[in-house]
Amino acid sequence: MTGFDFAYVGPPPPWDIGRPQPAFLRLAAQGVIVGPVLDAGCGTGENALHLAGLGFEATGLDAAPTAIAAARAKAAQRGLAVEFIVGDALALGQLGRTFATVIDCGLFHVFGDADRATYMASLAAAVDAGGRIHILCFSDRQPGSWGPRRVTEAELRAAFADGWQVEAIQPERFETNNDGPPVEAWLATFVRRLP
Ligand SMILES: C[S@@+](CC[C@H](N)C(=O)[O-])C[C@H]1O[C@@H](n2cnc3c(N)ncnc32)[C@H](O)[C@@H]1O
Repeated sequence: MTGFDFAYVGPPPPWDIGRPQPAFLRLAAQGVIVGPVLDAGCGTGENALHLAGLGFEATGLDAAPTAIAAARAKAAQRGLAVEFIVGDALALGQLGRTFATVIDCGLFHVFGDADRATYMASLAAAVDAGGRIHILCFSDRQPGSWGPRRVTEAELRAAFADGWQVEAIQPERFETNNDGPPVEAWLATFVRRLP
């Protein structure tokens, strides 16, 4: 067991709130999600499961086998058809298919600079031309230094400068399963440019 998989053994980690993040509930309600959808770094799958419940073709991918096992169990229990894959978001091209929408709830901010560059190449291979990625990530407006790296709006714009159009970057919040206040976040949407 390596990396994040440890986080899924025992009590749920702070981000694993047992329901979709409100930001993604809102995006779905606004009708801006288009299928097929990939939830990159899906954890135990609540966002992908919610979209599947709305009728979207949804796939969840995470490097943590324990998280994917939990996601598959939820899908079976809820009677939802979601494909949950143990895989590497840094190598999405290996899936051999593309998606109209990728959602990223708490994945972008886990990567260091080198992996961030690899992730950008990976996304380019996985998102259809004209497709979108919606990212919910830790924001530099979050005080303190605990938790993942803080991301600035400028970093988001720089990461997606090549081959993507900025559609929206807005202040948002992560809910957590602890007693603290919600975490300051960015909700960012980028459109993959047509070739
Ligand atoms: C902060 S958690 C968020 C999980 C889930 N999206 C949620 O909101 O509950 C980040 C997730 O990214 C996954 N992850 C980290 N690096 C990854 C990689 N290279 N490929 C796939 N998943 C990865 C971790 O296993 C973890 O489940």
